[in-house]
Amino acid sequence: MSRMMEEIREQPKALRRTFDAEREHAADFKKFISRRSIRLIVLVARGTSDNAALFGRYLLEITTGIPVSLCAPSVHTLYGARLDLRQALVIGISQSGEGTDINFVLKKVRSEGAYTVAVTNEAKSPMARIADETFLVRAGKQRSVAATKTYTGQLLVLYLLASALGSEISFDDISEIADHAREALHLAPEIQGMVERYRYMRQSAVVARGVNYANAFELSLKLMETCYVVAERFSSADFLHGPIAMIERDFPVILFAPPGKTLLGQRALIERLNRLRAETVAITSAGVRLREATRMIRVPGKIPEIFTPIPYIIPGQLFAAHLAEVKGFDPDRPRSLKIVTQTL
Ligand code: AGP
Repeated sequence: MSRMMEEIREQPKALRRTFDAEREHAADFKKFISRRSIRLIVLVARGTSDNAALFGRYLLEITTGIPVSLCAPSVHTLYGARLDLRQALVIGISQSGEGTDINFVLKKVRSEGAYTVAVTNEAKSPMARIADETFLVRAGKQRSVAATKTYTGQLLVLYLLASALGSEISFDDISEIADHAREALHLAPEIQGMVERYRYMRQSAVVARGVNYANAFELSLKLMETCYVVAERFSSADFLHGPIAMIERDFPVILFAPPGKTLLGQRALIERLNRLRAETVAITSAGVRLREATRMIRVPGKIPEIFTPIPYIIPGQLFAAHLAEVKGFDPDRPRSLKIVTQTL
């Protein structure tokens, strides 16, 4: 079994550990941060961690009402711009905590008056030393190049930060996420059987909207780095503004279709793709009424949309890990990649 697969399976326990260890910290942070008038949240990250940041943008804006910006590191690292971030909370996200440009930005904006928080899986990392405060993901050492358990751990910490920054999300809500993740792992045999059909897949589109938009980025990244599939990711709205033109018979399109605000649009898109004879794979929940996609992956349980991103990415991770093996690739040693990549 690949390390990637082992780490996918470790997620329910890792999520429970992170929640139990950081819930009191989040409660204290709520008291502290309420005394600072935070007018802006800036998220800074790379790769899979940047996909977690993209999720954070939606979650924090939807549930706290505080505007969120996804930082462009080069504005600081290459252009040396000076931003007025005195009333900003800047959150760096990096499983290794060794992202050179992320740490450069955190150090710089801290000196410019921003309050900085690190979300990392490595307590002794440079990022944990640079930031004013650290929320630690307890996923255990990441040994596979392809990040899985650290991604979901980062999402869980973002739920805790949302609860500290004024959202109505409760600790009880967050504590159920590990159980949803455990249920999602039960899909492993079904997905292992399904991936054979995609052995020769070289290109695909991954489409989602709202709080699951980040999962479209994350699943496409997993398909690119472990299966070498050219996987383009789109919001289902952007997809209609041009990319849909590339769809022809049997073109593979993977869609996240949770219950809630985005379902109507996803339902209409699946129907349109069916008329174009595309190959559609829909990741949805049990009980969600959806005209049949070519393949349906139904995550067990009735999960409110806002809490679907973690259980929904797990079948995507399983799909990529099993597909890599069917294609004869080692997901733990993807070509041209290492666990830590440093950019400035
Ligand atoms: C993810 O599977 C990749 N290994 C890569 O994109 C990674 O997420 C990125 O290099 C960021 O790493 P970090 O979280 O350690 O900063």
